[in-house]
Amino acid sequence: MKPSDPVTGSKLPATGTSIFTVMSQMALECGAINLAQGFPDFEVDPDLVERVAFYMKKGYNQYALSHGIPGLRENIARMIDRQWGVFVDFRDQLTITSGATEALYAAISVVTNPGDEVLLFDPAYDSYDPVIRLNGGIPRHINLQFPDYSLPWDQIDAAISPRTKAMVINSPHNPTGTVLSHDDMLRIQELAIRHNLFVISDEVYCHLVYDGVAHRSVLHYPALANRSMAVFSFGKTFHTTGWKMGYAVASPAITHELRKIHQFLTFSVHTPTQYALADFLGQEEKYLSLPSFFSQKRDRFLAGLTGTLFRARPSAGTYFQLVSYEGVSSLGDVEMAEKMTKEMGVASIPVSVFHEDQTDKKLLRFCFAKTDETLQKAAKLLQSIR
Ligand SMILES: Cc1ncc(COP(=O)(O)O)c(C=O)c1O
Repeated sequence: MKPSDPVTGSKLPATGTSIFTVMSQMALECGAINLAQGFPDFEVDPDLVERVAFYMKKGYNQYALSHGIPGLRENIARMIDRQWGVFVDFRDQLTITSGATEALYAAISVVTNPGDEVLLFDPAYDSYDPVIRLNGGIPRHINLQFPDYSLPWDQIDAAISPRTKAMVINSPHNPTGTVLSHDDMLRIQELAIRHNLFVISDEVYCHLVYDGVAHRSVLHYPALANRSMAVFSFGKTFHTTGWKMGYAVASPAITHELRKIHQFLTFSVHTPTQYALADFLGQEEKYLSLPSFFSQKRDRFLAGLTGTLFRARPSAGTYFQLVSYEGVSSLGDVEMAEKMTKEMGVASIPVSVFHEDQTDKKLLRFCFAKTDETLQKAAKLLQSIR
């Protein structure tokens, strides 16, 4: 067959339908409560919605500047400065993208050439591996250390070869809810400098940190920031996952390359929403209130597990909670997630799907970005499982 044959010519032969789509579809068909896919089921701030409508009606409906309107980039830079005390030049360090997904695609593409190896830490979000492959790179998966999901420094050292070009880190971490510490970041910086590595830092849950834990961005560490691309998402920050608005921050030299790729992926993103977000970022309480808002939801979900045989693992960040069902069933996690969706009415994501080697520790990931009513209903159902 010719190489252009749609089957034999697949660039991602091993990639099927994403587990998020599969579980959400199953939840819909079974009428189950969907705590699987990571999206809020509550309303977006009406003020933000009105602002988008306002700019649409005002005629802001044509292409924006490819790398984003200056007002939005300026206000993001201001937010980064206010929150983390880090200066980012909005003119040549910030690019507005179609969600973090596009930013990740562009960032990985900037540094990955055919034959380059890129380190990933499993369990890992599902977009990194295929994007590395699409660029001809070789993903090197390393499992985080169970049970605390810390970075396995010895294994990382051993995995680095002259072909290693970059590593992808993600903190706060989906699916485990762990947050990298200051010491972790210093070690990552040291490693990146010693081995001349780029770092792609997925920080989409940067505002969602709890229990006094601080988010440590690569941007805090100048020598690391210089060789990093940090990726963020307004979907996670403002409960607007369907709007697909994100941004990437990097040095001017890296941004120059990233923008070239962005230009041919989407060129630019939704103009009226950029104006609306620029206004909205002026109200800092909108993002400063997120830790308290989401930690209450996490605690409500945890309270719902009291008295059950499910055991929650610590979650200091993201809107995900890992739960062990070892006391409930000996099924594999994929079967357990399916059974719970179909028979018990609560959908979750099995953690093994985030592992290249499908490591199964009998853990399910639940999303607690839900209304109190949804969380209460889910708690009732989980409490009935013996
Ligand atoms: C860790 C992580 N990175 C990136 C993304 C993608 O973000 P966006 O929806 O802004 O493309 C997600 C979405 O769930 C995520 O969990």
